[in-house]
Amino acid sequence: MSDNPVKIGVIGCGNISAIYLKNAKCFPNLQVEAVADLDKARAKARAQEFGVPKACSVRTLLKMEEIEVVLNLTIPKVHAKINLSAIKAGKHVYTEKPFAITRSEGKRVLEAATQAKRLVGCAPDTILGGGHQTVRKLIDEGAIGKPLGATAFMLCRGHETWHPDPEFYYKPGGGPMMDMGPYYLSDIMMLLGPVKRLSGSAQIVINPRTISSQPRNGQQIQVETPDHLTGTMDFAGGAVGTIIMSFAVAGCNLPRIEVYGTEGTICVPDPNAFGGQVRMIKRGEKEWTDVPLAFPYVENWRALGLADMARAIRTGRPHRATGQLAYHVLDVMLGFLDSSAKNRHYQVPSTFERPAAMPAGLPEGQLD
Ligand SMILES: NC(=O)c1ccc[n+]([C@@H]2O[C@H](COP(=O)([O-])OP(=O)(O)OC[C@H]3O[C@@H](n4cnc5c(N)ncnc54)[C@H](O)[C@@H]3O)[C@@H](O)[C@H]2O)c1
Repeated sequence: MSDNPVKIGVIGCGNISAIYLKNAKCFPNLQVEAVADLDKARAKARAQEFGVPKACSVRTLLKMEEIEVVLNLTIPKVHAKINLSAIKAGKHVYTEKPFAITRSEGKRVLEAATQAKRLVGCAPDTILGGGHQTVRKLIDEGAIGKPLGATAFMLCRGHETWHPDPEFYYKPGGGPMMDMGPYYLSDIMMLLGPVKRLSGSAQIVINPRTISSQPRNGQQIQVETPDHLTGTMDFAGGAVGTIIMSFAVAGCNLPRIEVYGTEGTICVPDPNAFGGQVRMIKRGEKEWTDVPLAFPYVENWRALGLADMARAIRTGRPHRATGQLAYHVLDVMLGFLDSSAKNRHYQVPSTFERPAAMPAGLPEGQLD
């Protein structure tokens, strides 16, 4: 087994690229060789900021033989197209969420990767963080008995007040479900396994939207995908879940995720973060207990899933933030929208294998 760092090419140098490029330096098994963006100036600026040897076009990056993994940080509607080009060029891919915006393009990515014997990874990797792995350990050890239910709530007013280019949040592939659903659903699925049946009720509530961030302050966005959605989920393991995802409400006091078992309840920390407070109450208790985190990676460790996949490439072991899980999440997210539009339950055909738990007791930066 070679211990050489895995060479990474980053496509998409917008907002989220900074934290990936910063954190990649903390994993000895990652080496970012090149960055590319449609906007060449952005790629150049990121290369300078983070000392990446090369800023180039997407085409040039894909031709670089030394690059083993393409890290796809573009916008949702081009995720699948970039992933397919990267696989065709012989690269493994790790992509930001959502995995794709249609099931057919998501499936094409998985099929192409299987044929080419390449790995597919997908954000979010917050599920590998210390907060969420601690919850998983508690559930797996039976601390709350048999899981019977879960809730997931993400309600806010949207992103046009702060994101410099917020249009994609309100087009197909955006919306609160496709944007934030991956965090909540990946986490709940990592904890409870796949969903077999669901129902959804979805609406477009605020349309048009007026941008108040710079540089597009005052411009309007036509909203083309639901900005408020409620759903129910039947898990294959027997639990029943409730989800609300909204970009249309002024404020919200609900917990982010809770898991209910026959013997107790766990309050799960923010799935858009790695650490946070895990709280538990058992049957008969009056007070909640703060549970100490049993795993590392509690700060913003975006790139952890990529580093884990890079380790898998070198060792042959399975990786954890898989395309298979991301496709199941996509299938479920679209299922909520379809169920609402078609006025009926959706039987979820896809599934995934629950990834292995993270190892405890290793220093940050070391995966095995
Ligand atoms: N911004 C966040 O806080 C955040 C957090 C987590 C995940 N994400 C996800 O990360 C992805 C990127 O988000 P962002 O906020 O960085 O967006 P962004 O708009 O700031 O950046 C996207 C970049 O991709 C480039 N791009 C678009 N199409 C391209 C193509 N075909 N080829 C090459 N480059 C292309 C754009 O020019 C832009 O620089 C999204 O999928 C989003 O859901 C964002």
